[in-house]
Amino acid sequence: MLRRFIVGNWKMHKTISQAESLVKDILQMYQPQASVELTIAPSFISLPAVSRLVDSTPIKLAAQNTCANDEGAFTGEISPPMLRDVGCHYVIIGHSERRHIFGETDQDINKKVHAVLHHALLPILCVGERLEERQSNKTKAVIQHQLQTGLKGLESHDFAKITIAYEPVWAIGTGQAATVDQAAEVHGYIRSFISTQWGIKPDQNRIIYGGSVTKENAKSLFQSPQINGALVGKACLDSESFVKIAELATDN
Ligand code: 13P
Repeated sequence: MLRRFIVGNWKMHKTISQAESLVKDILQMYQPQASVELTIAPSFISLPAVSRLVDSTPIKLAAQNTCANDEGAFTGEISPPMLRDVGCHYVIIGHSERRHIFGETDQDINKKVHAVLHHALLPILCVGERLEERQSNKTKAVIQHQLQTGLKGLESHDFAKITIAYEPVWAIGTGQAATVDQAAEVHGYIRSFISTQWGIKPDQNRIIYGGSVTKENAKSLFQSPQINGALVGKACLDSESFVKIAELATDN
């Protein structure tokens, strides 16, 4: 069985000093377990300070986004070599807020996936449908398009390095998480699509769920064999909730 993967996406929260104190609290409370991998994604500006604190601990570092280019005239951007340099292992790519607020396309996302892999970083590719797409039975078509374009040009061996995060847009920040059945159905679809396209064994794909995950609903989500972990937003800003979610990932 794949290790459970719990990622805290801090989004645009926490100053540097607040970030340091949140990480210190997490480190104090968290009892690492071999069956769980814990990763946090602070803002770019907090990465150096957080990196120093998690260095030589089992907690890994992720960035929330990246530029697809290595360097150059890209004002305001941060590149994969810079993220490696600061100690990131993972990069979240194609989060729905990047897609829908900042207009990232599947083509942009595909370039980022390739850039991240090229620099030996590990992508966490986010996919997910909007409410109106679900209501008009377009969920699978939307996810298929996001995967087909977002993962274009990848080889089968790349999939050992890729995590897919299924984050239905309607569940993000709404307090209305997908039900276990809804999440499991889409995770199953993602597995079969990737298996058909790239010949990966379905159970070798790491697929995590995001969207209003809390310490109250995490246990039932983790009971599904389709759900290999969680991408946590709001609940990861509180050390006790985040550590509790990580503990629940070890329990079953
Ligand atoms: P919430 O957990 O706040 O719904 O956010 C989910 C998310 O977008 C994680 O990337």
